[in-house]
Amino acid sequence: MDTTDSLDEILSCRLDLGKRLVEPCSIVIFGASGDLTARKLIPALYHLYIEKQLPNPMRIIGFARREKSDAQFREEMKAGVEQYSRTKKVDPAAWEAFSANLTYCQGEFSDPKAYLKLRDQLAGQQHEGLRKNVLFYLSTSPSQFGEIAEHLANAKLLVKGQDGKNWQRVVVEKPFGHDLASARQLNAELTRFAYEKQIYRIDHYLGKETVQNILMFRFSNAIFEQLWSRQAVDHVQLTVSEKLGVGTRGGYYEEAGALRDMVQNHLLQVLALVAMEPPVSLEAEAIRDEKVKLLKSIRPLQATQVATQVVRGQYQAGYVEGQARPAYREEQKVQPNSNVETYVAARLMIDNWRWSGVPFYLRTGKNLPFSASEVRIQFKPTPNVLFAAQCGPKLDANAITLRLQPNEGIYLRFNGKVPGTSVQVRPVRMHFSYDSEFGAYTPEAYERLLLEAIAGDATLFIRRDEVETAWAIVDPIRQAWESLPLTESEFYPAGSWGPHAADALLAERGHTWRNPQPFPTPK
Ligand code: BG6
Repeated sequence: MDTTDSLDEILSCRLDLGKRLVEPCSIVIFGASGDLTARKLIPALYHLYIEKQLPNPMRIIGFARREKSDAQFREEMKAGVEQYSRTKKVDPAAWEAFSANLTYCQGEFSDPKAYLKLRDQLAGQQHEGLRKNVLFYLSTSPSQFGEIAEHLANAKLLVKGQDGKNWQRVVVEKPFGHDLASARQLNAELTRFAYEKQIYRIDHYLGKETVQNILMFRFSNAIFEQLWSRQAVDHVQLTVSEKLGVGTRGGYYEEAGALRDMVQNHLLQVLALVAMEPPVSLEAEAIRDEKVKLLKSIRPLQATQVATQVVRGQYQAGYVEGQARPAYREEQKVQPNSNVETYVAARLMIDNWRWSGVPFYLRTGKNLPFSASEVRIQFKPTPNVLFAAQCGPKLDANAITLRLQPNEGIYLRFNGKVPGTSVQVRPVRMHFSYDSEFGAYTPEAYERLLLEAIAGDATLFIRRDEVETAWAIVDPIRQAWESLPLTESEFYPAGSWGPHAADALLAERGHTWRNPQPFPTPK
């Protein structure tokens, strides 16, 4: 008998038993006519429902400006699930049962009467939990967060503090402000009506299975953690590349740019998890304390350093996988002379004991050749004797790659002898793939995040000081760029890996970008 599988089963350790208590509640989605609701939120809730992970009973109320009936709202949401969900086609019986919990409340965010209507809808529920435990999901522009919270508080739907029995929580989508000052302002507005503990700031990267695995990988394995410092690590590369352009989101993107859209949140979050110290416990606050500490140790960039440590770029027309792509300046709702960046690469230094002197390179961009998110820990080379002395730079240094998406997995790259009578050494790869180990099931980030918010676990959400510290890191970069129009060398053709200056940024220290590869899924 092969005992390996059963032994692995015995050795698997469940940490969340007893932790995730989901009580009957209502979920109110503000901005329910928006894209996010149909693409992500309702599909996630539907999947949680069919997997019996949602509380029973529960209700979902869509709140938005447009007039529509409950039946219309349900139909639209069904179409969203069929188009965007990970399983596409809905099971008619399951949808029937799920959508019976779905209603619509029409109203302007600024109209106090609309909130009274919402109050009536909630008050009409029989179960106390449905009336008093409420998750308010603000899928709206950040400029409306404060106003909505205030109206909710005035209507006594959102009560600051908890009575120990019932709860109200506010989930807010990114972008959380557009700079440090506006983020502070938003925080001040929200905390007038809710305690910090009631506020759940979303960064959907934290809901990704592979991003959560960073902590497990680092702190449940003795062998890797030993290597995780300046003693062994030469530098770290974090790439989030996307092969799509801005598409229909030109209007939003003109206000955001890659720095605000991706670096301030997703990239810095992943960096914090990769580089932080071990937390004192697995509690939300302990983990978030360490993330903030790490973000605070990132060396602040002075305006004069931005030009040498950060590269921006904007895509020009080109081809991605053989398909013609327009230049950013030709996209819908984009100014023809826009200076907004669609690509950022940066070298950040972390001034703490563990990472002193180790460059962390971050990059992200749109219309790149391949969509992938990965962290590559590039180890120091061997001493310059034996193989290294003979091969020079042809002897590759070891690397661990955490592939966050797609083909989720972890790869260890080391050198081996090529079999045969010749003496030849070349890199080989040891490969852990989620798919082959666990099967193809990876829940969508929003499923996990919604469930955690319902359960009141804030680990995967961004704390106030975290969001503010992240803005403090990117603000000087944005300020340095603001008054400078893009120069010729800052453009890159769609379908390339970004402007040449990004290569020069690494070459200065003898490093080279390692572009994510479309790994074949192992059989
Ligand atoms: C969003 C950004 O937060 O993340 C988008 O606004 C980006 O511009 C997206 O495309 C990337 O997320 P994912 O999960 O597809 O890597």
